[in-house]
Amino acid sequence: MCGIVGAVAQRDVAEILVEGLRRLEYRGYDSAGVAILDTECNLQRVRRLGKVKELADAVDSNPITGGTGIAHTRWATHGEPSEANAHPHVSGENIALVHNGIIENHEELRSLLTERGYSFASQTDTEVIAHLVEWELRSAKTLLEAVQKTAAQLEGAYGTVVMDRRDPERLVVARSGSPLVIGLGIGENFLASDQLALLNVTRRFMFLEEGDVAEITRREVNIFDLNGEPVAREVHESNLQQDAADKGQYRHFMQKEIYQQPSALINTMEGRISNDTVIVESIGAGAADILRNVEHVQIVACGTSYNAGMTARYWFEALAGVSCDVEIASEFRYRKFVTRPNSLLITLSQSGETADTLAALRLAKEKGYMSAMTICNVAGSSLVRESDLAFMTRAGTEIGVASTKAFTTQLATMLMFVTALGKQKGVIDPKKEKEIVTSLHQLPAQIEKALAFDKPIEQLAEDFADKHHALFLGRGEFYPIAMEGSLKLKEISYIHAEAYAAGELKHGPLALIDADMPVIVVAPTNDLLEKLKSNIEEVRARGGLLYVFADSDAGFEECEGMKIITMPKVDEFIAPIFYTIPMQLLSYHVALIKGTDVDQPRNLAKAVTVE
Ligand code: M6R
Repeated sequence: MCGIVGAVAQRDVAEILVEGLRRLEYRGYDSAGVAILDTECNLQRVRRLGKVKELADAVDSNPITGGTGIAHTRWATHGEPSEANAHPHVSGENIALVHNGIIENHEELRSLLTERGYSFASQTDTEVIAHLVEWELRSAKTLLEAVQKTAAQLEGAYGTVVMDRRDPERLVVARSGSPLVIGLGIGENFLASDQLALLNVTRRFMFLEEGDVAEITRREVNIFDLNGEPVAREVHESNLQQDAADKGQYRHFMQKEIYQQPSALINTMEGRISNDTVIVESIGAGAADILRNVEHVQIVACGTSYNAGMTARYWFEALAGVSCDVEIASEFRYRKFVTRPNSLLITLSQSGETADTLAALRLAKEKGYMSAMTICNVAGSSLVRESDLAFMTRAGTEIGVASTKAFTTQLATMLMFVTALGKQKGVIDPKKEKEIVTSLHQLPAQIEKALAFDKPIEQLAEDFADKHHALFLGRGEFYPIAMEGSLKLKEISYIHAEAYAAGELKHGPLALIDADMPVIVVAPTNDLLEKLKSNIEEVRARGGLLYVFADSDAGFEECEGMKIITMPKVDEFIAPIFYTIPMQLLSYHVALIKGTDVDQPRNLAKAVTVE
């Protein structure tokens, strides 16, 4: 989704702004732009369709100087990707503005503003905000007042930053539904939609809350809440690594993040498991009481996080004996659901800013859930702030749009949580708890072993390069792992992929089987293996092309039409996490062969902050 960077400083800020945009590229975008007030207070604006590199080249060849500026990467919602629709948008000669989010009443506002004599240079919803601010400034005493009056007329979600040529050392920002952080410097201040954008200039941040409007100058940051009252927001020291936005030795962020999984998982588990127990208190204050009383769990999430929730459902019921439902957030939020007694709501999210998941949390709070917990990767995100309990996944910054380490750390976090829950409810005895915890301790080393399959999987990927479709199969908790495998393949290689619970094959999808439809099967030894083997036979009998990921105990033999990738044997508890790795590697290598944009696949964004 769109990225925002702003700066008020004594030095020239063009480089800071463009570097900030580069660090936000992972969010997904189609155009970029910057506007800076020079020393004579002239508004200089440069916009480009395409990558930040195009913008950087344009700024390099025609340098713009000045200490106050705003910049933006746009992910098109209203109006095609084009230079005219790229931000910053302007009103008259004085106002420039960037915006992240969607203004739902933009058509109504557009008509009103047209009647008032404004003309529009773009098809965006954003431009109405620029003209509204311009209009309000005709009567307001300050830019702050004009933005507050404008914000009151907007419906939808926004994070917006406004600059006025006549008040050159001030930026005014407003947040409602789209995250914004203020970065504090010495004699200079910054803002961005993600702290990552500013790590090269500051490590001190304030997170704006819903409804906040703030004015930022070189020396001051004044924040006002929804009611216009001055408020103080806590200053946080960022613990993100400076190099989080660099690929290091890797070719892509996705590759780096796949390889970071052993260390990410060590972080996830640190201080949460002892030798043989899960430390319940590490989930948070009051967790023990909540766990004892939980009778049902409702998980709500989107995309990869939904697949993690689907996997965890098997654990909740099989290990902790607690019923569990999992639903896609965009469905949950519009469904007339019945809340079960003593039901715990769990939102799962890497970013903590996914609009549908956040809306589901807010709705659930009115619907009588006993408590709302989030399992999330981003500290200070909206989901973390608005939930009763936050159990962080600690994956570290994930930049590749395709989630990898976010998924496996979500699974490890869930497994710890399920174990704690089962223990509190007296369903998991110390012996079982020890078995699970022992498996968790082995997990990072086992993931290293799975990563060692990189080369053979790279070779296997050749088979997929000319394919247009693929089918992923699994049973039990490996069905969601097949779902995640299929999501990875489709999003980065653009090969159409579907995942099925293997038992469903004969109810329809079997009709698709032919030599052009590779079928990937996740088939470790477990109670369902014999059933799965029958499903595999159904595919073989119809000339299907099979790729079976299994362990040596599973007893598969390679033959015509069936390749076996023999993985090491791992404990049943961690096997879903382990089998995720070959799925990630396969999609990565297929995408490499196809030459797609691995880290920023077309049409996708990292944090989906709009509905
Ligand atoms: O930040 P979230 O986990 O809430 O994001 C939800 C989905 O947009 C996300 O998981 C998406 O499906 C993945 N990045 C795809 O790999």
